[in-house]
Amino acid sequence: MKHLAPGPALQPPFAPVEQTWTPSSWRDRPVAQQPDWPSPDDLDRVTKTLTGYPPLVFAGEARALRERLARVARGEAFLLQAGDCAESFEAFSADAIRDKLKVILQMAVVLMYSAGVEVVKVGRIAGQYAKPRSSSTETVEGVELPSFRGHLVNDIAFTEAARLADPERLLTAYHQSSATLNLLRAFTKGGFADLRRVHAWNQEFVASSAEGRRYEQMADEIDRALRFMAACGVLSGANPQLHEVDFWTSHEALILGYEEALTRRDSITGDWYDCSAHSIWIGERTRQLDGAHVEFFRGVQNPIGCKIGPTATPDEVVALCDALDPHRQAGRLTLITRMGATAVEEALPPLLEAVRDSGHPVVWACDPMHSNTFTAPNGRKTRHFDDVLAEIAGFFRAHDRVGTWPGGVHVELTGDDVTECLGGGDEVSNDDLDTRYETMCDPRLNARQSIDLAFRVAELLRHR
Ligand code: PEP
Ligand code: CO
Repeated sequence: MKHLAPGPALQPPFAPVEQTWTPSSWRDRPVAQQPDWPSPDDLDRVTKTLTGYPPLVFAGEARALRERLARVARGEAFLLQAGDCAESFEAFSADAIRDKLKVILQMAVVLMYSAGVEVVKVGRIAGQYAKPRSSSTETVEGVELPSFRGHLVNDIAFTEAARLADPERLLTAYHQSSATLNLLRAFTKGGFADLRRVHAWNQEFVASSAEGRRYEQMADEIDRALRFMAACGVLSGANPQLHEVDFWTSHEALILGYEEALTRRDSITGDWYDCSAHSIWIGERTRQLDGAHVEFFRGVQNPIGCKIGPTATPDEVVALCDALDPHRQAGRLTLITRMGATAVEEALPPLLEAVRDSGHPVVWACDPMHSNTFTAPNGRKTRHFDDVLAEIAGFFRAHDRVGTWPGGVHVELTGDDVTECLGGGDEVSNDDLDTRYETMCDPRLNARQSIDLAFRVAELLRHR
């Protein structure tokens, strides 16, 4: 495998997927952000094992999500993509999964009820185990070790043994994704996500806050509306929309050996799908046009995302669209912009115009997290709620100016009462950051901040 320095490069047009692509054709391209596996033989053995395992999702499910995202691309629905920065092998329990799902369901209901939009719910979950790093090593008190790259690769402890890349982790990631997905399917199809349980998603520590009370009030109104509709006879049928939720999984497909091993040819269409998740995205550090990630992604037919940071030029973004969405198919490609609160309003419109003029019917989503990270006075990596909100507001204004649809938000959150991001209704301060700072990677919104954000985004949607 060739290695590549970060930084996107331009590349001439791609040959058609049908003629040139295979699940392993990425191996001929320079590949960024892969660990140094100590034993290629062990890695090979593990990926061969994974190749024989059942797919985690079916191609038909990925196609169904693509159709839902096509609605977002047309301005008929809104995308809510949310979850951990990095899922952990250790913080793995039914309660943690349930609480993350609860807060996403709450946010979706706030958006649906307050703004009257259809919401497509996608988790950063059941596979979000690999992290790109700005430096491949970390030095602490003169000791230099490989960086932590997520539990798919190594462990966070600062010891030589922990930081060694271990291919057995690919198998653990597969099994843990499978168990997470199983529970999500049970929760969303087995009664937990029933709209009549809208109160039960409000956790105690949320209910006692201002945004929690606002949520309770809205939940009361939903109850009343449901009783009214039942009294009118509108709800006399089966109404699966009220009792079940469609919830999709996604992650950054970073470690391409893992993704290749879970890529399968669909027996119905003959197309290739990465069956590790319904949707996968390319990170800001791996979107080089001539790189391995773009090569891998262009051949799988899942709905895919690509992060777009402040250095991206209009030509580069259109070239990415040409490579990743050659058939100009609505729902195929989501561009997840992460420009920073102060830059977004200037930086985004030229990209929106260029992509609109190119005819690619993309979904535009706003990641208001990754360009608003800074180091707090106490040394913790953090983000301020106001910056997160400001980037979303700037994203909406940019779309208003160009006449495009601000299709969704992509956020890092948890269902827990953590103190990782500053601000919000309960005013997390610099001094509070140490109280419950639990993330393995980037700071996440806690459940209260997440619900607060949903109400603010609903207001932005309403005022368009
Ligand atoms: C992420 O989404 O966790 C991430 C690393 O984002 P980006 O690639 O935009 O930096
Ligand atoms: Co992150």
